[in-house]
Amino acid sequence: MNYKTIKDFDNLNNALVLVRVDFNVPIKNGIIQDNTRIKAHIPTIQALTEKGARVILLSHLGRPKHQEKELSLLPVANELEKLIEKPVSFCSSLDRDIINKAELTLKQGDILMLENIRFFEGETENDTFLASMLSEDISLYINDAFASSHRSHSSVDAICNFVPQKAVGLLMEKEIRNLNSVELFKKEQKKIAVVASGAKVSTKLDLLKNLVKFADDIFIAGAMANTFLAAQGYEVGTSLYEKDMFDNANNILKAAEESNCNIHLPEDVVCAYELKEGADLIISKVDNIPASMMVLDAGQKTVSSWLAKLESHDLILMNGPLGVFEKTPFDKGTNELFAGLKYLSGYKIAGGGDTIFAIHKAQAAESFDFISTGGGALLEALEGKLLPGIKALTK
Ligand code: 3PG
Repeated sequence: MNYKTIKDFDNLNNALVLVRVDFNVPIKNGIIQDNTRIKAHIPTIQALTEKGARVILLSHLGRPKHQEKELSLLPVANELEKLIEKPVSFCSSLDRDIINKAELTLKQGDILMLENIRFFEGETENDTFLASMLSEDISLYINDAFASSHRSHSSVDAICNFVPQKAVGLLMEKEIRNLNSVELFKKEQKKIAVVASGAKVSTKLDLLKNLVKFADDIFIAGAMANTFLAAQGYEVGTSLYEKDMFDNANNILKAAEESNCNIHLPEDVVCAYELKEGADLIISKVDNIPASMMVLDAGQKTVSSWLAKLESHDLILMNGPLGVFEKTPFDKGTNELFAGLKYLSGYKIAGGGDTIFAIHKAQAAESFDFISTGGGALLEALEGKLLPGIKALTK
């Protein structure tokens, strides 16, 4: 693909460089739960500051409906400051005059972070007015936010029409190299497995429809699996599931059969009366889930049988934990799967905010050959889609 990289720019002395990063990290009560995505952008930021650029960082955090205090990027700016060991100033307004003032304070090698771009109207609509406002005074725009590049949003897509020069960052380069190696697996028709989970089938519907076309096996876990089980008539008790997705779930099962893709659902599950750390639990077969309990993790039999099946795959892609990994003991299934993956010979890729957090929590990074910062972006790119954020850089 024809795009520039940071290496194409030797002299950035005093240049104002706008970097789209993905600092969409889990935050609870103002405390960052996992800083992997922040760390992942540091090489790009350092490469630019070392070249003398004045760096402005731009990211989203969560899906705010308005300016929600708990979705401010200020804690992220503070965390970056600690990690990069230099000051990171923060601009809480996207008012052009205020940004101008903040820019004026920047010297060569300085870093400024702007507030959550999704606090501002137009971002998710790929608004050109916002894009042109953001690109004012910018000499170079860098997209390092692979994880956001499946979104046709102003700071990812439209902005590329307004900046004088654009390029990919170092993290984005790594992510694209990973995609290229996956393309090879697909081209050579190697055996591919996907472990997919998430809260909702509705948000991953198109994705599942496309995955069945090239994956040999898809292992569905989490609340998504509850919807598939309920759609087939199983009792799922008080578990999270989507009743209005039954037809879609059944259609995916049908499409998978037509494409010779095997869909695997949990055979046993961990159930509790409430989602609480240390709650009383039972392990139940999926055809025996008590009506008053909820499914919170995959059971041991499921994990063992999935690991045995995964032994024969050349490529294993993991997107999503098996259960509510944030709360012990509902992290057991996820942790055991991670631990077992380490011993499988296939090329193992993990991706997605929650997955990264779960891997970090379980200290299981060694189980994977590549950990992508992208979740939805990774899966969409694997379907063969050219992501809008990458396409915009080549124009
Ligand atoms: C992600 O976490 O996958 C990215 O940051 C994109 O976030 P979004 O799904 O809210 O666009």
